[in-house]
Amino acid sequence: MKIIAISNQKGGVGKTTTAINLSTALAAIGQKVLVIDLDPQGNASTGLGINYNQREKTIYDILSGQVEIQSAIHQTNISNLSIIPSTVDLSGIEPELAHETDRAYVLKNIFNSTQALDDFDFVFIDCPPALSLLTVMAMTLANSIIVPLQCEFFALEGLSQLIKTIERVKNNLNPNLHIDGIVLTMFDGRNKLSSQVAEDVKTHLKEQVYETIIPRNVRVSEAPSFGMPALIYDHRASGSQAYIRLANEIIKQNNNQEAA
Ligand SMILES: Nc1ncnc2c1ncn2[C@@H]1O[C@H](COP(=O)(O)OP(=O)(O)OP(=O)(O)O)[C@@H](O)[C@H]1O
Ligand SMILES: [Mg+2]
Repeated sequence: MKIIAISNQKGGVGKTTTAINLSTALAAIGQKVLVIDLDPQGNASTGLGINYNQREKTIYDILSGQVEIQSAIHQTNISNLSIIPSTVDLSGIEPELAHETDRAYVLKNIFNSTQALDDFDFVFIDCPPALSLLTVMAMTLANSIIVPLQCEFFALEGLSQLIKTIERVKNNLNPNLHIDGIVLTMFDGRNKLSSQVAEDVKTHLKEQVYETIIPRNVRVSEAPSFGMPALIYDHRASGSQAYIRLANEIIKQNNNQEAA
């Protein structure tokens, strides 16, 4: 079982879209996948078809010790794919935990105390757009991190701050934490700037960048309003196909990491 946090404090770079579609692509090839929606916006929950009235047990309830993990795991309409949803309630957890000295470990301690995750091959944590306690909790629990980076002018801005946070978590809370890779998102081949940014990022960050680039694709942006991953909404769309390639790249990477 591998736990991967999908994180970038920049908003709207494709974290949730990547969490949804990468997990769907992995589930489609038989991997058992859990998404933890760790963002009070609840976008991953919506995008995976969990309506508000179905979210009676959420990640907030788990973090505040009110329910067992198992009871908050919702099966989605996609086989092999489950989710622990969130609602805006989750924004209350940071002030509630503010006085706890071990607050960074809360998520990890809860998950380590059960076998609830043992059934899964992959757990993806969809992080909020902030280097906040929620993100630090995700990084403390995770084995590794995937960073979506949008192909636009300010793509690299803030990346050094993100890397510093990851280093800090690694040094103080989770010694084996590492970045699995950076995934370029919303690439527009007709836009010179987009190509320039993709090239720059690959030059600077080299093998840290996944070969697969996710194109900007209207089908990908339409899908969440139907409560469906793009891969189900239109599996032939360029964005869906890209997430299938990314999933294969991640499986290969995972096999290599295990063999090493
Ligand atoms: N490949 C894509 N093609 C077209 N639109 C996309 C693509 N990826 C993401 N989007 C759209 O861009 C917007 C932001 O994406 P997303 O919600 O995944 O980003 P995020 O990083 O999770 O945002 P936040 O920081 O608010 O959590 C959404 O409207 C989404 O539908
Ligand atoms: Mg999001």
